[in-house]
Amino acid sequence: MKIKERIEEILQQTQKLKADSITELEALKVKYLGKKGEVQELFQEFKNVAAEEKKELGQKLNELKSGIQDKLNMLKEDLERSIPQGDVSNDLSLPVSFYASGGRHPLAIVRRQICEIFGNIGYTVAEGPEIEDDWHIFTALNFAPDHPARDMQDTFFIEKDPDVALRTHTSSVQIRVMETTKPPIRSIFPGRVYRNEAISARAHCLFHQVEGLYIDKDVTFADLKQTLYYFAKEMFNKETQIRLRPSYFPFTEPSAEMDISCNICGGKGCNICKYSGWVEILGCGMVDPNVLEACGIDSTVYSGFAFGMGIERITMLKYQVNDLRLFFENDLRFLKQFESTF
Ligand code: DAH
Repeated sequence: MKIKERIEEILQQTQKLKADSITELEALKVKYLGKKGEVQELFQEFKNVAAEEKKELGQKLNELKSGIQDKLNMLKEDLERSIPQGDVSNDLSLPVSFYASGGRHPLAIVRRQICEIFGNIGYTVAEGPEIEDDWHIFTALNFAPDHPARDMQDTFFIEKDPDVALRTHTSSVQIRVMETTKPPIRSIFPGRVYRNEAISARAHCLFHQVEGLYIDKDVTFADLKQTLYYFAKEMFNKETQIRLRPSYFPFTEPSAEMDISCNICGGKGCNICKYSGWVEILGCGMVDPNVLEACGIDSTVYSGFAFGMGIERITMLKYQVNDLRLFFENDLRFLKQFESTF
């Protein structure tokens, strides 16, 4: 009989299969799917089939195999349902069945913690889209038209002219919130961001940030400093010190980068802080008046500060994780170390 007809025949047979016991079911499994079973025999024969027939027959053969598997699974479920379990429902002395609940991802634990720390001083949480236009990622944030961050190298563009891209930072949400909210504004914006970077222990094309924004009358750099000092102590420990170094971001003036005293060695010097006693955790500054005006906020009346931090970086420091890629591999041996109720 030709292989094609044989496939058809077995298919017909197996659709009508019945099993009254697990033993019968096992026997059927051996007969059809076993090492020397019907299907395996067909796979042996398939090796001699002419090349032009291989595609069609190969497909049929695979369909046959998975069809039989499905049928046997169904029979198994029917059997399990029909086997009496004995009446254990009233035996209250039986131990409860083990229920393995999942844990939170370390990045989710830290994101929630950041939201809680700022929530305690009155910050609300807002989110924005991951696919953004040029205005919200760059132009309204005072990036010059030829700024290198707009380059194809850093940004994943989805469309050109008008530009649409995966957001490179959560600062875009600042703009969305300022465009739609009348000050005072006191919010943080957690979210996923994307950059065209080679993946390594220290960089990834996908990571997470939390952006913060505070806009009101008479907000000063002292407010910024005290807020971040409070955050660092809450996030790490009460002994944590901060240091602000002058920096540049198009959307803040003046701008700074903030270091914390190394939480591993307490500032004495170790390989995490490269023996400097300090590690950088975020960028910040006073919102540039051009940014306020771009969002329709009168910069002669209002001022404010903004800051942005990478959740991966904070998590790596807090838990001493030395390779960023671990966060994205979903290896349970890694994830189980963070099971937490936070
Ligand atoms: N958006 C910056 C980045 O992705 C981080 C940042 C720096 C945000 C300074 C801010 C800021 O709000 O003031 O690198």
